[in-house]
Amino acid sequence: MYAVTGATGQLGRHVMADLVKTTPPASIIAAVRDPAKAAPLAAQGIQVREADYDRPETLEAAFQGVERLLLISSSAVGRRVTQHQAVIAAAKAAGVSVVLYTSLLHADRSAIGLAEEHRQTEAALRDSGLSVVLLRNGWYAENYLNGVSPAVTRGVLFGAAGDGRISTASRSDYAAAAAVALAGAETSGVYELAGDESWTLADLAEVISKAADKPVAYKDISEAAYREALIGAGLPEHVAEIVANADASAAKGALFDDSRTLSRLIGRPTITMTQMINAVLNG
Ligand SMILES: NC(=O)c1ccc[n+]([C@@H]2O[C@H](COP(=O)([O-])OP(=O)(O)OC[C@H]3O[C@@H](n4cnc5c(N)ncnc54)[C@H](OP(=O)(O)O)[C@@H]3O)[C@@H](O)[C@H]2O)c1
Repeated sequence: MYAVTGATGQLGRHVMADLVKTTPPASIIAAVRDPAKAAPLAAQGIQVREADYDRPETLEAAFQGVERLLLISSSAVGRRVTQHQAVIAAAKAAGVSVVLYTSLLHADRSAIGLAEEHRQTEAALRDSGLSVVLLRNGWYAENYLNGVSPAVTRGVLFGAAGDGRISTASRSDYAAAAAVALAGAETSGVYELAGDESWTLADLAEVISKAADKPVAYKDISEAAYREALIGAGLPEHVAEIVANADASAAKGALFDDSRTLSRLIGRPTITMTQMINAVLNG
């Protein structure tokens, strides 16, 4: 049996869609916070079980009979280590053989603030004695898509990543990799997952400009100024903090990877930023 936590999230939904292409639905468990949200999965014959990271009493029962568990990292930034520890303890108690965990690209040495919770989760997994596969996901390409239309309107793309190269991939590509790894036979390993292409924010401005057929220039500003600009644009403070910190870390190479591990794992090239920007602007 296979189980996927966070199966009703954005990444999780893609994982489930890929998994059912290769795996009988009756051998898949969607381990989710809110079973009502998983009705479309149940309709496909996938087992739905309640698994709330904040309610450890739900977790062990959810993982009964599971051999391979995909732990999709929680979105509750700041509470994730405790939540993930609860999942790991329950997986161990339920007799799960292999846990696959969606970590962050180069989590062991990443300067990105968000990496710390992933490092602590990886350590908890190591200490658990379970067999562990780390799927260290790079930045989602989608993180940049909300900024595309405002950049076209202003003619300026703001950021704080300098000339740091960024190797994004789409959620659907990371999900495809997770589905392949979950359905596969590997019982250990570390996958550094990122897009085939890397680009600077100046390159991104050029791609947007071409797709929109309007001039768009990149303007590099300080991390603090970018944070303030994001708050001014309506982002909650803690999100602005995370985004600006990621950009400043990207300036030092934290979001770069040219291993092409992701495209090898999924057996096809990753979707390009140009394709994604064109889809946003030109349908
Ligand atoms: N690499 C990147 O650029 C990047 C960007 C954003 C996030 N991430 C990480 O990747 C993860 C998946 O991304 P995503 O786009 O799928 O994010 P998402 O759509 O926000 O999904 C987060 C998932 O976590 C689940 N969750 C939150 N709290 C939970 C709890 N207490 N118990 C059980 N499940 C809980 C959510 O459940 P519900 O479906 O019930 O809401 C949802 O399924 C995120 O959670 C985050 O750790 C990475």
